[in-house]
Amino acid sequence: MPRKYFIKTYGCQMNEADSVRLAGVLESAGYQNIGGSGYQSADIVLVNTCCVRRHAEDVALQYVASLKGLKKKNPEMIIGVCGCVAAEPGVDILKRFQHVDLVLGPNEAEKLREFLKPLTPFSPSPLVRGKGKYKGEGGEFVTIMRGCDNFCSYCIVPYVRGREVSRPIDEVLEEVGRKIEQGAKRMTLLGQSINSYKYGLANLMRAMGPAAERRGSQSEEPRHSVSGSELVQFLTSHPRDMSDEIIEAVAELPYVAKEFMLPLQSGDDEILQKMNRGYNLDHYRGRIKKIRELMPHARISTDILVGFPGETEEQFQNTLKAIEEIKFNEVHMFAYSSRPGTPAAQLLDQLPEKVIKDRLQQLISHVHRLVA
Ligand code: 5AD
Ligand code: SF4
Repeated sequence: MPRKYFIKTYGCQMNEADSVRLAGVLESAGYQNIGGSGYQSADIVLVNTCCVRRHAEDVALQYVASLKGLKKKNPEMIIGVCGCVAAEPGVDILKRFQHVDLVLGPNEAEKLREFLKPLTPFSPSPLVRGKGKYKGEGGEFVTIMRGCDNFCSYCIVPYVRGREVSRPIDEVLEEVGRKIEQGAKRMTLLGQSINSYKYGLANLMRAMGPAAERRGSQSEEPRHSVSGSELVQFLTSHPRDMSDEIIEAVAELPYVAKEFMLPLQSGDDEILQKMNRGYNLDHYRGRIKKIRELMPHARISTDILVGFPGETEEQFQNTLKAIEEIKFNEVHMFAYSSRPGTPAAQLLDQLPEKVIKDRLQQLISHVHRLVA
């Protein structure tokens, strides 16, 4: 009987993509995906965690704690904690949870291979990213770069995911080609700050022309020039690095979705500066203007973070005004959560929990009013 695995994934698309990678390693070692309903009889359970906000971390670690009983019943079961919490400074998973056997940071899929080697023979083919039968929940992802060098003052990602590393264009094209052969119709290129891709995001998108042609000839569905027929979209862009060149490439290339994920975070210049975001509201407006000049129907979504330390009522109102002015298609809204080790966590003017929660509620109502 083949051995079975189960992967529980929390957090962003980057984590989804990492889970596909972990699944690829497990499948090349002969393990089969048992899926959520059968996880109690899995031979290995991996929990892929997120720590961008305290709540996300707590939820993931509660799940890890809940596996204790299973391990007691079946001491042979391997339990692994992966992803961002596993790399968080000051969090000692093995010490905290005696029933955990394995801890893997976000870039350590290869370590899983090493761990499994004494237990199981591997298929001779080298690790193929995302080739496994495991399907992520959010669709097809292609990670083109890992890590982040931006060090926004509130964000823990650069500490747990490390410095930016871009995959060469050829390697990305190979993966895209393979996914098309396997029937993928659309995929999302991923990077924490994707428009600083070292080899040029516009170059990469242009180099995808032949792959898009191949996809076109393999597709059974008639292709119309409407949204949904494009081959790729990309996440997440940093407003500071959103160059004209990238915007023009998106506008020009028919196989690139006219969709932008451009986190504003705050509509107040002083807060943006304290966040170390590297742009002001005017710069952001300019990027939106350029996008809409070339693509009037582009879909623009954003992230907003309220309750940053020291944020005044007036500064919060500036964020609400900016949202009203810019007219996003979608707004993801977050309450500031202090993350140990980040510069913002050291600031003395942390706002009371109640003020932060109230602002999030006001923001949610504001956005609903605008969208309704
Ligand atoms: N608290 C709340 N939200 C955060 N984000 C990043 N760090 C924090 C934090 N400490 C939000 C940002 C980012 C999104 C992925 O998560 O808005 O764009
Ligand atoms: Fe975090 Fe800023 Fe990097 Fe995004 S760009 S992952 S918010 S440090």
